[in-house]
Order: sequence, then structure tokens, then C-alpha cells
Amino acid sequence: MQLTEKILFENGFFRTILDNTHDGINIVDLDGNIIYSNSHSAEYLNTTKDYMIGKHISLFYPKAVLLNVLETQKPVLDQKIHFVAGNKYVVSSYPIFIDDEFVGAYSIFRDVRAIDELNRKVKYLELHLGLSNAVEEESNIIGTEKSLKEALIRARRTVGSIGGPRHSIITGESGTGKTMLANVIFNYAKKVSVLNNDAPFIEVNCAQFTNPDIAAIEIFGSEKGAFTGSTMKKGLFEQANGGILFLDEAHALEQYQNLLLKAIESGRIRRIGGSKEFDVDVIIIAASTRNLSDVLLPELYQRLAQYEIYLPSLDERSREEKELLFNHFINKYQQAVNDLHKINYKVQFTDKARKLILGAEYPRNIRQFRDIINFSIDAAAPLITDVQDQADITTIVDVDHLPFQIDEQKPAKVSDQLKSKIDSNAKKLIREYLNEGLGPRKIEKKMIEHGYDIKYYKIAYFKTHDE
Ligand SMILES: Nc1ncnc2c1ncn2[C@@H]1O[C@H](COP(=O)(O)OP(=O)(O)O)[C@@H](O)[C@H]1O
Ligand SMILES: [Mg+2]
Repeated sequence: MQLTEKILFENGFFRTILDNTHDGINIVDLDGNIIYSNSHSAEYLNTTKDYMIGKHISLFYPKAVLLNVLETQKPVLDQKIHFVAGNKYVVSSYPIFIDDEFVGAYSIFRDVRAIDELNRKVKYLELHLGLSNAVEEESNIIGTEKSLKEALIRARRTVGSIGGPRHSIITGESGTGKTMLANVIFNYAKKVSVLNNDAPFIEVNCAQFTNPDIAAIEIFGSEKGAFTGSTMKKGLFEQANGGILFLDEAHALEQYQNLLLKAIESGRIRRIGGSKEFDVDVIIIAASTRNLSDVLLPELYQRLAQYEIYLPSLDERSREEKELLFNHFINKYQQAVNDLHKINYKVQFTDKARKLILGAEYPRNIRQFRDIINFSIDAAAPLITDVQDQADITTIVDVDHLPFQIDEQKPAKVSDQLKSKIDSNAKKLIREYLNEGLGPRKIEKKMIEHGYDIKYYKIAYFKTHDE
């Protein structure tokens, strides 16, 4: 059988097709009574086609666009989002003319809840991307006059000193602001014209490579034909020419330290497998959570450590500064929501929630502190769909909104208030415990109860040396 439109029509197949589209379709007669609805339309209203047919459209959609079309006989191509009973849709309605006679109207609508949901997710991601943006402006850094004062002076000096820019090392626990500081140095170098405005900032995470050969090629590049299938590839070192190469987690440099040292000493690099040397002018900033003097080749360490900058952990910062950081992250959140949704958004923490957050320990420092604050606000914040058309919104964050781990944290690091010196009283206690036959680790715990923070290895040492 030759398939034709006529055959489809006569067999009622168009009905099946209409029922299978994802758009809703309603057709009304001149009185506004429904004479046809497809499956999607019925499902959308949580009813059946049979129930709908014969009923007036306004029963389902009190302000149906179809009613306007019946009046004007003109199509309404609507971009507006309509709300009915928790549903959201965009609708277009058209008049129906048969032999130039106006006989009714039909509408096609699209459910936008899924799009809406997607939109919400995109906005959420957008918001959080903004919130976790690295701070590069010094004006956005908390502690410039206190905990970071020295670090910032030294940071500026690394590139700004009259004798020319120097390589540097930034150490500090995870989340203390190493990447941030590297960016500050970069921006400062541009500001004082040590670097050009279009100078590159190339970031390498040295711990990301599983294989030292790949690492060497990534960093130094390769020449075509250096090994089977190899192509010419510019390394990160070359890409950083005229700018900064930021070696993050530099304790993982391992096998290619020698190559690096050579490059730094000579100011020239050679691609892997190549014979030609290129001049490179690169300022290196190496960052690490570890003491690099313990892990790098001494010569390399010396070259890099012309300035060594230590960033204090969150723990080492004053209560006052923690509060500044706390307010800073709340402001950032408010600002991000204001910008995104064009509303006047305020966040308030209850005293109890505030105390808990400020008192908790953060092994991953400022990053974790920030994430916990953002998390808590997220948990307390209303959904976008609940704040339609509201201009002012205030979110109160209470203890229940905090991520649960925080309750289990000890309020403060015990060792902060403890004495770490083995004074005569401590000696006496340790001797007593040793005589009782307790091991160094047990004794360490016992000593904490007495107000001493004396590490077990010191106790072991005491045992063998202090008799
Ligand atoms: N003093 C500070 N003031 C404001 N934000 C900070 C400060 N220190 C760190 N941050 C923010 O904390 C987060 C973690 O810092 P980052 O530089 O990535 O840490 P690291 O590289 O040491 O792991 C970043 O979002 C950073 O902008
Ligand atoms: Mg970092």
C-alpha cells in the first residue's frame, strides 16, 4: 500500500501522532467548549480527554488565551509564562477558519517546568561558580592588615623589587589562599609593569600526572618524531613565557626536577626529543602544603625559595578575622543572589548557628569555611519558584541548616589552650605513668587531661633520655 496523507487521515492516524507529541493541544468551538484535547493536555491537567471534551475551556484555564482568540479572531503567539495550579506553560493560540468562516480556535502549549528546573540548576551552578571564584583583587582579601600583612608585603616584593622579579614559594595548608596569593602576585606584576598586560599565567598541578614522561612532555613540550607518534607540542613552560608559571603541589615534581633546574638556571628550555633550545623568561611560583626544603633537590629549592611565603591556617587567625571572613562570605552570597535574580537579598545567621560555625575546626581552612557557610545558606534559602515577584527576601540560617558534621566537631582545637613544655610538674606526671607501665601514646592522652599537649614522641624521647 502506498502511504499517503489521505490514508493517514482516514485511518485516524493523525490523532495518534498528536497524542504522541510533547506539546499540549486544545481545540474549542465558537462557544469556548473543548472539542478536542490530546493526551498530553489531559495529562498535564491530571485528567482524561473524555472528561475535558464538551466542557468549557475556562474551567481548566480561567484566563485561557483561546478566549482572546475567539474574540479577536487573531492568533496570539505568546512568549509569556502562564501559571495555573502549580503548572507552568507557554502557549500559542490560533483561530480556525474553514471556507473563510470563523469556526473556533486551537492552542498549542509547552510545559516549561522541565526547562524551569534546568534553568534553576544553571542559576544554582552559576551562583556557586561565582562564589568559588578565586579572589584576585587585594581589596577582596580579608586579613590584609593582620594575618596576611607580612605575606602580602613579601608577595609584592617577589616581583616588584628593584633588583628584578624573583621566583617564590608559597606554603600553607590546603585552602589557606596559595592560589589566591599567586594570582595577587600576577596582578601586581602587571600593575607595576613587571609583566605585560597580556602576560600569561599558567597553572600546573604537579600532582596530576601519573607518569613522569607525560609530565615532562606537558611541561617542556615535545618535538615531532621524538618518539613514535609524537607531534610538536609546546610545553607549559614555553606557554608561560613572559609571564608566570604556577607550579601547584610542587612537592610532586619528582623526576623532572633536574630538567626544571636546568631550565631555571639557563633561562633556556629544550623540548623533549628536540635539539634546539629556546629562551624563556618565566617567573615561577611554586606552592605546596609541605616543606619543600625536605622534598626538592637542594639546588632547585634554593633557586625557587628566593622568597618563601607562609600562609597561616584558619586556626592560626584571630577570632576577629574569622568573623570578618564569615561576614565576607555572607556578603558574597548576598551579592551573587542580588546580581542573579535582581532582588534585595539578605542573609542572617542566628547567634547559635553563628557561634557553631565560628567555633568549628576546618582542616581544609578557608575553602572549607566558605563552603560550609554557602552550604548552610543554601539549605535555608527559599526556592526560586517560591520567590516570584518578591523584591525583598531575608533568609534566616539556624542550627538545623548547618551541615551535620559541624555539630560533631570539637568546638576548638584542644591543643590551643594546652602547655607544650615539659616542666617539672609534667616530668613528675610522666614518670609516674611510665612507672605504671603506660606507653607514650596513652601518656600523651593522660597529659592532655592535665592540661599538657606533649607529643608521644617527646614522651618516648623523655623516657630514654631524662632518667
Ligand atoms: N584572606 C582571604 N580572604 C578572602 N578569601 C580568601 C582568603 N584566603 C583564601 N580565600 C578564598 O578561599 C578559597 C581557597 O583559597 P585557595 O587560594 O584556593 O587555597 P589553596 O590554593 O591554598 O588551597 C578561595 O576561594 C579564596 O579566594
Ligand atoms: Mg590551590
